[in-house]
Amino acid sequence: MSAKKSLDEKDKPIPLVDLTLPPDGDSLPHDVRSFLREADRRIARYCRGRRIGGFMPSDFERVYGVLRTFTAGNVASGNQFCEWGSGFGVVTCLAAMLDFDACGFEIERELVDAAQELAADFDVPVEFICGSFIPSGSEACIDADDAFTWLHTHEGSSVEEFGPADFDVVFAYPWPDEEQLTAALFDCHASAGAVLMTYHGGEDLRLRQKSAK
Ligand SMILES: C[S@@+](CC[C@H](N)C(=O)[O-])C[C@H]1O[C@@H](n2cnc3c(N)ncnc32)[C@H](O)[C@@H]1O
Repeated sequence: MSAKKSLDEKDKPIPLVDLTLPPDGDSLPHDVRSFLREADRRIARYCRGRRIGGFMPSDFERVYGVLRTFTAGNVASGNQFCEWGSGFGVVTCLAAMLDFDACGFEIERELVDAAQELAADFDVPVEFICGSFIPSGSEACIDADDAFTWLHTHEGSSVEEFGPADFDVVFAYPWPDEEQLTAALFDCHASAGAVLMTYHGGEDLRLRQKSAK
């Protein structure tokens, strides 16, 4: 029997509840607009002439709008924010600009360096960790025969310092074949009240909250 199927009844994850927010009608603040213009320019330069692998930027304006409405609505249980697979680090920076205490995990060293440089150039106080966001103890979520196109499934060592239970909001832009696992990992490890924000391309951005037991 696989580890996934041996999950005890008592350890069963708490269901995630979908959240709906009113639309964000405000325009972007000037500092955010300048930051995003430069981020777009650097990402275009980074992507030019190379195989990009698993990196694909989300719709930053849209993510910012939802984060802003979410912040105004006081839905989060606290201000600890983490981006799983932070790429260029733009969403982590946007969260910090909205006063979250924000960090990102990214497996590709080159992307971590680019994210750190972008944040430093705009004086955004964030932390980027080069390593896997998948917490140790995730065997219950990942089947040995699961195969993903881009996701690195090995567990991180750095997450021993901070795990998903330490975060109030987790953001991810999973590839379609990673969507289920992303929610399962969050469900397994996050604390009650924490929110998972996921971007799925186009207009599709989901917010799910781990309800209290
Ligand atoms: C679709 S991109 C999203 C980038 C960024 N979140 C954004 O919205 O612009 C997914 C990122 O996850 C990273 N990644 C894949 N597996 C990972 C893992 N186990 N731990 C940390 N990062 C990972 C990839 O290198 C890639 O940069």
